[in-house]
Amino acid sequence: EAIYRAGVSGARPRVPTDAAALRAAAHRRMSRKAWAYVEGGAGEGATMSANRAAFERHRIVPRMLRDVTERDMSVTLLGRTLPTPLLLAPVGAAGLVARDADVLIGRGAAAAGVPYILSCQGSSPMERTAAAMGDAARWFQLYWSRDEDLVDSFLARAAAIGAGAVVVTLDTTMLGWRPQDLNLGSLPFSQGIGIAQYTSDPRFLELARARAGGPARDVRITPAAVRTLLSISREHPGGLLDNLRSPVPRAAVEAFLDVYSNPALTWDHIATLRERTRLPVVLKGVLHPDDARRAVDLGVDAVMVSNHGGRQVDGSVASLDALVDVREAVGPEYPLLLDSGVRTGADVFKALALGADAVTLGRPHIYGLAIGGSAGVADVVGNVLAEFDLTMGLSGVASTAEITRETLA
Ligand code: FNR
Repeated sequence: EAIYRAGVSGARPRVPTDAAALRAAAHRRMSRKAWAYVEGGAGEGATMSANRAAFERHRIVPRMLRDVTERDMSVTLLGRTLPTPLLLAPVGAAGLVARDADVLIGRGAAAAGVPYILSCQGSSPMERTAAAMGDAARWFQLYWSRDEDLVDSFLARAAAIGAGAVVVTLDTTMLGWRPQDLNLGSLPFSQGIGIAQYTSDPRFLELARARAGGPARDVRITPAAVRTLLSISREHPGGLLDNLRSPVPRAAVEAFLDVYSNPALTWDHIATLRERTRLPVVLKGVLHPDDARRAVDLGVDAVMVSNHGGRQVDGSVASLDALVDVREAVGPEYPLLLDSGVRTGADVFKALALGADAVTLGRPHIYGLAIGGSAGVADVVGNVLAEFDLTMGLSGVASTAEITRETLA
C-alpha cells in the first residue's frame, strides 16, 4: 500500500515498477560484458522467450464481491512458514554488476523479507554474505563438484551459515551454449569472478595448491596477476575489489575450471546426500515428470522446476508448462518451486495457480542491484510482492491457499 500511495502522489520510485522499464534501466547501468552474461540466454534465446510466452498464455479470471480486506500471502515450505511465496534465485558472478554483490543482494533480501539462495558461484564467501544478513533466511545452492571432498566441505559450510536448505542445481553439469558471452570472448569465471566460495574453501585451496605445484606459488601476487586485476577492473567495477581482497591467482582459476562441475552426475550421487547433510534437499532444474517422480522416491524434500532462465538447453520446454506436468506427476502435496521467467506479481499468482508452492525471482533482482544496490534489490522484490498482493485481492482471493487452478481461465 505504501508503494501504491507513493506512486499516485507524484513521488518517483527508485526502480521502475514494470518489468520492461526495469530491464532497460538496468541495461544502461551495466557494462557490455556484464549485460551479455546476465541477460544472455542459450542459443537463439527460444527458451527464454518460451518462458515468457507460457506466462502470457494463462489468464486469471477474477472473482467479485468477496471480502478481501485481510490478505495472507504466506506459504508453508519445507516445514517452515514463509511470509510470501517468493525467494531470490541463486545468481553466480554477480560481482560483474556491483562490488560486494552478494552481500548487497543478501541485505536487500533480508530487508524485503524473502529468503536468498546463495550461489555456489557467488562473488563473496557465503560466510560474509550470511553475516551481512543477520538471521534472515538463506539457502545455499550447490554445483556438484568433481571433487567429493569439496562437496562435503560446501555442505558443512552451508550448515554452519544456517542455510535452510541445500539446492542442488542439476542442469549445469556443463555450461550451456551462450553466444553473447562467446562472441565477446568473456566468461567471468576465467577472470576469477564468481569463484569466491571456492577460494574461501580449505579443501579447494588444497586442490589449487596441488595444481600450482606447491604451497608458495599460489599466494604470490605476480606482475601478471596485477595486470589481470587491472584489466578486470576496467571491464567490471565489482571485480577488482573482490579480487584484491582475496587475490585469485591463475592456479586457483584453473583448479576451479577442473572441479566446479561434474558431467558424470547421476541419481546415485543424489542418493548419497541423505547421509551427508541434515539440511533439506531441493533439486533445481527438473523439467520431466519422471525425474520429479524419481526425486520423490529418493526422499528429496522439494523440486524446483526450472530451465535456468533459458541459459542451458535452447529449445527446451518452458518452465511454467513443465510445472503443470510435474505437479500432475508428484501429486497435490509434494513441495514444488517454479523458477524461470517470473517477472510480475501476476506471474507469481499464475505459478501458484498451476501448482507451485513458491517461486524464485532471477534476473529482475540483479536489475535492481545494478540500479540501486541493496535498496534496489529490496524495491524490486517489494514491487513484485505489492502487485501480487493486489492481484490476489482484486481476483477475490484472500490467501495463497485459495490460488487454485480454478482462478485461471
Ligand atoms: C543464473 N542462474 C544460476 N543458477 C544456479 O543454480 N546457480 C548459479 O550460480 C546461477 N547463476 C546465474 C547467473 C545469472 C547471471 C543468471 C541470470 C542466472 C539461474 C537462476 O538461478 C535462475 O534459474 C534464472 O535466473 C531464472 O530465470 P529468469 O527468471 O532470470 O529468467
